[in-house]
Amino acid sequence: MSGPLVLGIETSCDETAAAVLAPGPRVLASVVSSQVDLHARFGGVVPELAGRAHLELLAPVVAEALERAGAVGHPPVGAVAVTSGPGLMGSLLVGLSHAKALAMAWGVPFIGVNHLEGHLFASLLDHPDLEWPLVVLLVSGGHTMVVAVEGLGRYRLLGQTIDDAAGEAFDKVARFLGLGYPGGPAIDRVARDGDPTAFAFPRALADHGFDFSFSGLKTAVVRAVERAPEANTADVAASFQEAVVDVLVTKAVRALEASGARGICLAGGVAANSQLRARVEQACAERGVAALVPSLAMCTDNAAMIAAAGQWRLEHGAPSPLDLGADPNLELAFAR
Ligand code: KG4
Ligand code: ZN
Repeated sequence: MSGPLVLGIETSCDETAAAVLAPGPRVLASVVSSQVDLHARFGGVVPELAGRAHLELLAPVVAEALERAGAVGHPPVGAVAVTSGPGLMGSLLVGLSHAKALAMAWGVPFIGVNHLEGHLFASLLDHPDLEWPLVVLLVSGGHTMVVAVEGLGRYRLLGQTIDDAAGEAFDKVARFLGLGYPGGPAIDRVARDGDPTAFAFPRALADHGFDFSFSGLKTAVVRAVERAPEANTADVAASFQEAVVDVLVTKAVRALEASGARGICLAGGVAANSQLRARVEQACAERGVAALVPSLAMCTDNAAMIAAAGQWRLEHGAPSPLDLGADPNLELAFAR
């Protein structure tokens, strides 16, 4: 397939990332510099620190991606794609202005990418032959959505969280249990030694519809530990994780059955959860449909997925204007 190399840049939260994508799409290089250590002692992402770290890290990360990809021509790539939202304003601005400057200096098109659409494209990089329509469960630190994807660029929102995101619930409960940051991987690890039936935590809104609510679950965990301070942390973590995964899988399966999709696709940081991955694979196997579970590197934030979404946007539309602004609350464009 012919077409330009695309440089992708991602700085919406706490990963500074750059990637180079060839047509296909084929990832030539993907560099992710995580700021986890920087934010860990504060128990969460500190926006001002994230912005400043992106500023220091982005140029070397981009240089490394270009070098690893062997992109040495003039210009080294044929287009630059960057996350323009949603995310932290200061962090988005660092990536966006860097991408614009490179596109201008190299005289190549510039494409602003919706971070959420990037997560949807991550699966495509792992499963280039995936067949639509699919139900995508997009679960990250900021979002929890069930999306019916009829084809690339054609999204229908079936449901979303009415309060906390799934990843946010993992992070908050982990902090409460003293398991550190980021909470998702910590709970996942500790839960392996726990009994998921030890506590019967609530499954909010489980019986109907596609929307989620996780703030009551977090409160239920706090109450349970206050009532039983001697409780085994592994049991609490496993029971909490079971409650989250149960609701996520129930809703994804309901969406699958309501929409007649060919499978369930996982996306976003929480898609790295071992229990969620296992339960989605099991539910799909039982129904004879595809389970599209991305590699761990494609679950969490990276720039290859941004380059992939940008490459597709460039092929199916127009580049973005150079005065495109960062939008911390950017929403996916859903069909009605
Ligand atoms: O997609 P992502 O990297 O960043 C956002 O766009 O939000 O997702 C980060 C979220 C965090 O809340 C983190 O705790 C969660 O994904 N996460 C996990 C796991 N790994 C990361 N949650 C549950 N289990 C995991 N193994
Ligand atoms: Zn993300």
